[in-house]
Amino acid sequence: MVVLITGGAGFIGSNFVRLVLEKRPAWKVVNLDKLTYSGNLENLRDVAEMEGGRRYFFVEGDVCDTAIVQALFSGAHPLFRRHKDLRPTQSLRCPIRAVVHFAAESHVDRSIRDASPFYRTNVEGTGVLLESARRYWQVDERPASTGNPFRFLHVSTDEVYGSLELHQAPFTEENPLKPNSPYAASKAAADLMIQAYVHTYGLPAVITRCGNNYGPYQHPEKFIPLFITNAFEEKRLPLYGDGHQVRDWIYVGDHCSALMAVLERGKIGEIYNIGARQEHTNLEVAELIVQRLEKSRDLIRSIADRPGHDRRYALEAKKIQSALGWKAEYSFRQGLDSTIRWYRDNSSWWKRLKNEEFWSYYKEFYGSV
Ligand code: NAD
Ligand code: DAU
Repeated sequence: MVVLITGGAGFIGSNFVRLVLEKRPAWKVVNLDKLTYSGNLENLRDVAEMEGGRRYFFVEGDVCDTAIVQALFSGAHPLFRRHKDLRPTQSLRCPIRAVVHFAAESHVDRSIRDASPFYRTNVEGTGVLLESARRYWQVDERPASTGNPFRFLHVSTDEVYGSLELHQAPFTEENPLKPNSPYAASKAAADLMIQAYVHTYGLPAVITRCGNNYGPYQHPEKFIPLFITNAFEEKRLPLYGDGHQVRDWIYVGDHCSALMAVLERGKIGEIYNIGARQEHTNLEVAELIVQRLEKSRDLIRSIADRPGHDRRYALEAKKIQSALGWKAEYSFRQGLDSTIRWYRDNSSWWKRLKNEEFWSYYKEFYGSV
């Protein structure tokens, strides 16, 4: 079985590549990634050394590039000629049996500054991928009925549901889509395109929607790694507004195990929320970080709020629990401690990312915090 993973050099994608290679010895991974500022081959350096050319194959490329994506699906990409283990069989033009689509522009603040890359990658890129997958699947799979079905897993977000007030019940899969930021709108558009392909062509696709992830290899622009690494360096922790916004946190390993369950056992056409029911205000998280790092609370600095900032996300994940028997293993405390340890032990990883380009982005956003 060959799985095409898009965006596998990013935070969640790289954690998922590791999980697949560790837990499914018979699977091979093709990782298609454009290596934007958030894609980092360092995230998978050990994997490439151990499994490169055997069970792990990296293709640098853009999901919006129809030629590359079609070549991967048709089996014409040079990758298949170079590696005999990846050659298409006589009955199948292409060995790819599943797609897990992570590739996206993922940072809400950046989408507020400039939405265009978000529409391009998250909407147009998903369109290119879907259309190529459909053509391949209709030609290869439909008539042949190989008994080894193709599957397309689209990795989405709770932000497509919009924002909740404190008294409101968590989002279920039945909630309407009411995205607020340009990022969330682009992800909602992609979700609707997936649903249209399931409805119109019967494409065997599933959608997952997850809350805020944290853990190893998350880019330091995001809240938890930014606060941890700034605190290590005695830099201020820029908290938006009153800090009472609520996020529903999940450790990245738990998200990845849920994705595996949906990929293998999820029902075609369904949507699965993935959550751990660990709601915390940003202020609580900031305070916990400074406390665990034994730093002064004075590092936390309230700054102007994010425009259109969603007040609260919370996810009901009963469906995936009852239908697929999945549940999160990490408490927020365990996950945070393990994340803090990882950033402490891997300072060279994040210091390389907090480079000149990062600080110029940072100054533009946060001024002289
Ligand atoms: P990330 O920014 O860390 O990684 C994104 C990856 O996609 C990078 O490797 C980047 O190089 C790649 N990429 C971007 N544009 C591309 C393009 N045009 N072609 C090919 N590759 C491209 O993001 P993440 O936090 O790992 O998120 C991964 C996915 O999970 C996204 O779809 C995101 O919407 C979704 N998601 C994230 C969270 C979260 O809390 N981080 C929660 C729910 C869902
Ligand atoms: O909910 C899932 C989403 O979580 C994913 O779909 C997105 O890809 C991911 O980036 C994340 O979006 P958020 O906007 O919630 O994450 P971020 O880490 O940017 O911010 C988390 C909260 O912390 C949010 O309420 C804004 C706040 N924050 C963030 C930053 C970067 C601050 O107060 N200060 C900051 O400097």
